[in-house]
Amino acid sequence: MIESMFGLSGQVALVTGAGRGIGAAVAKGLAGAGADVILWGRSESGMRETADTCSQLGRKVTTVTGDLSDPQGAATTARELAAERRIDILVNNAGTIFRAPALEVDYDDWRGVLATNLDSAFVLSQALGAPMVQRGAGSVINTASLLSFQGGINVPSYTASKHALVGLTKALANEWADHGVTVNAVAPGYISTDNTTALREDPEREHAIRARIPAGRWGTPEDVVGAVVFLAGPSARYVTGHTLVVDGGWLGR
Ligand SMILES: NC(=O)c1ccc[n+]([C@@H]2O[C@H](COP(=O)([O-])OP(=O)(O)OC[C@H]3O[C@@H](n4cnc5c(N)ncnc54)[C@H](OP(=O)(O)O)[C@@H]3O)[C@@H](O)[C@H]2O)c1
Repeated sequence: MIESMFGLSGQVALVTGAGRGIGAAVAKGLAGAGADVILWGRSESGMRETADTCSQLGRKVTTVTGDLSDPQGAATTARELAAERRIDILVNNAGTIFRAPALEVDYDDWRGVLATNLDSAFVLSQALGAPMVQRGAGSVINTASLLSFQGGINVPSYTASKHALVGLTKALANEWADHGVTVNAVAPGYISTDNTTALREDPEREHAIRARIPAGRWGTPEDVVGAVVFLAGPSARYVTGHTLVVDGGWLGR
């Protein structure tokens, strides 16, 4: 019963940024649910631990390296992959953040965040979405943020990229829904990863953030896994264009 609702046996999932943080937890979670995994990272060594864990779960594991700040290069790699094998689930997880007041952000820094967080999610969705549309089945899951809904402080490029990602999620969902392809997003709240180290190392910010989270604690990468497994699986075939917030209650407050 649970397997028929949430199981991913026989599916192949590609996860970007799979070497650490949320992406590593998600890749392991998808493997645990039965999917073979393709791990995308910037270095083989950075993905070793995730690959070993997924293999120990009995899954076929493939690793791919590519820098997502170069969307055209990423698109070429993704098209080559899609030509070689069927990919059923795409998790656009990799992301970067640049913390500085808007008046101090260089154009190149701005573009770097947009290229990694937004442009690469688009080109990978195109490259892997095309065969999904053709086959009439597949799931794309983007990684949004609370800053898809709020402005944040000193992270204008990140906020712009994450707002846009939710728009892109809806746009692709609308185009691909009647081809059997769902496009959704998860929006993690404040999660303990390298992405938020600077916030957690500032005692005042750390306290202010934790005090505002109704759950009373920072999230863990594992907190995000169930939402992704659900959106990738059989129970979510009629869920599309949705952004599922996993934030310990932050947005509702
Ligand atoms: N942590 C949070 O509180 C939080 C909240 C909301 C949303 N998110 C989002 O969740 C996603 C994962 O973040 P995280 O918290 O797990 O952060 P993280 O621990 O800093 O991991 C970021 C991941 O993205 C990859 N990455 C960054 N730039 C890349 C590039 N140019 N090319 C290829 N890969 C790149 C990194 O690969 P390397 O290992 O090679 O550097 C790493 O695997 C991001 O999209 C982030 O915006 C995080």
